[in-house]
Amino acid sequence: MTIEEKIENIFPAETAVPDAARLAPLEQKEYLINGKIKNWTGARHEVFSPVSLRGKNGAARARLGSYPLMTEKEALEALDAAADAYDEGRGLWPTLGVEARIARMEDFVRRMKEKRAEVVNLLMWEIGKSLEDSAKEFDRTVEYIVDTINALKDLDRTSSRLSVAQGIIAQIKRAPLGVVLCMGPYNYPLNETFTTLIPAILMGNTVVFKPPKYGVLLHRPLLEAFRDSFPEGVVNTLYGEGRKIIGPLMKTGKVNVLAFIGSSKVADILKQQHPKPHRLRCVLGLDAKNAGIILPDADIDQAVEECLAGALSFNGQRCTALKILFVHRSVLGEFTGKLVAAIENLPLGMPWEPKVKLTPLPEDDKIPYLAEVIADAKEHGAKVINECGGLTNGNFVYPAVVCPAGDKMRLWREEQFGPVIPVAPFSDISEPLKYVVDSDFGQQVSVFGRDMDKIAPMLDTLVNQVCRVNINSQCQRGPDIFPFTGRKDSAEGTLSVSDALRVFSIRTLVAAKESDANKALIRGILRGRKSKFLSTDFIL
Ligand code: G3H
Repeated sequence: MTIEEKIENIFPAETAVPDAARLAPLEQKEYLINGKIKNWTGARHEVFSPVSLRGKNGAARARLGSYPLMTEKEALEALDAAADAYDEGRGLWPTLGVEARIARMEDFVRRMKEKRAEVVNLLMWEIGKSLEDSAKEFDRTVEYIVDTINALKDLDRTSSRLSVAQGIIAQIKRAPLGVVLCMGPYNYPLNETFTTLIPAILMGNTVVFKPPKYGVLLHRPLLEAFRDSFPEGVVNTLYGEGRKIIGPLMKTGKVNVLAFIGSSKVADILKQQHPKPHRLRCVLGLDAKNAGIILPDADIDQAVEECLAGALSFNGQRCTALKILFVHRSVLGEFTGKLVAAIENLPLGMPWEPKVKLTPLPEDDKIPYLAEVIADAKEHGAKVINECGGLTNGNFVYPAVVCPAGDKMRLWREEQFGPVIPVAPFSDISEPLKYVVDSDFGQQVSVFGRDMDKIAPMLDTLVNQVCRVNINSQCQRGPDIFPFTGRKDSAEGTLSVSDALRVFSIRTLVAAKESDANKALIRGILRGRKSKFLSTDFIL
């Protein structure tokens, strides 16, 4: 079959969906507020998959079910539940002690694992992520929770001793911040929501969490686990249109931490809505336009392999994706030839098909958007250099390699977040370096080459522009124990297994002058295990 025929026939008949992947529509009416799973009777949002299925009347997007379109009233109810559970730091959860919180979290992970198959299948259908990658997302999330628990044990162990300095005895620990509003992105709706939600809860905060626009139903199977593992009000869920329900929450001033992964534009709006911005902590993962720089002496086969994965994994819908490639003119022909050939070998199809790499996209407006930026690039002198590049069928868009990319094009500065690869030829290394310096974004960069005398000075410039320089490898977030952050419009705060515990807490100490009376008092509290904070108990 030609590529064109494959694209034309990408959507299967309803009857061709394998039994293991079949999904009965999930009409979600439930939401969790204050430890109770409530029944929603109001308006609901209909959920359709990016996958179309061919039936009697032709191809139509598979209907996956529906979820509550909650209003400002329920949003405020969820926020009040979280605020009451925190109770200005006097609530059960913030005063519970680390060991007991860890036990609750371990219980949650056990319950979560039981829902793996259901969550993975919903993830696959809702956002079109391949079955293999959907399973990876689930497993990576479980691993992240386990690692976070271990990191917290370590953190608590190191702070289980007292410090004495300048005649003052102190115990220094980390204490929670309050109510956290967690919102993750659609491309990692489970993982990236949980990389903030889980450390926030573990540190003793209470949360309201709203799943992203796409990737909502997959959270439904975990509702009972949240209810049963944590005290009432610690986890509260919200569904609906962000514009309508999130603004009112921010305006109350009751949100202490905004954990948001999405666009800088939305983050700025939310921050400005808070009446006391200095009280609001922000943990933000935002826009990125990571560049790949291919030097004349690069191992081209390796560079192509990494750039292909970097630009097209999950159809380019990763914040860490390589979104523009700068290729030295001396290797341009070889690089683009091999890149185009490698794209032709990428299997396209339905997310449940083994080894599939290219799948339909969840965002409806992304399809015309990608067509627009490709047309704009053409108007400015670029060509789509691969066969069928940009060809669409329903929500499927075949990858387009656009060359030569130039600074007049939208693709030069806009984050396409999809399967379009702009290639910018360069003659002098100052050109891609200038691009990185001038960019509004500062997440990561990839450099491909072999000459240490050329690469070393580049590293020293680039580390002050972005927060991770990848040598001969694509940009990526993992391993999750490494810091993940960005400069400029790309991030605020640092996430990683251990950094996340820090961003959702604040160093707090109990201190006393080293007098006999104070020593006796502290000794009495410690020996009688009278305080959760002032305690030298060591988690084993
Ligand atoms: O979308 C942004 C993700 O954090 C990227 O994670 O590099 O592991 O795909 P990843």
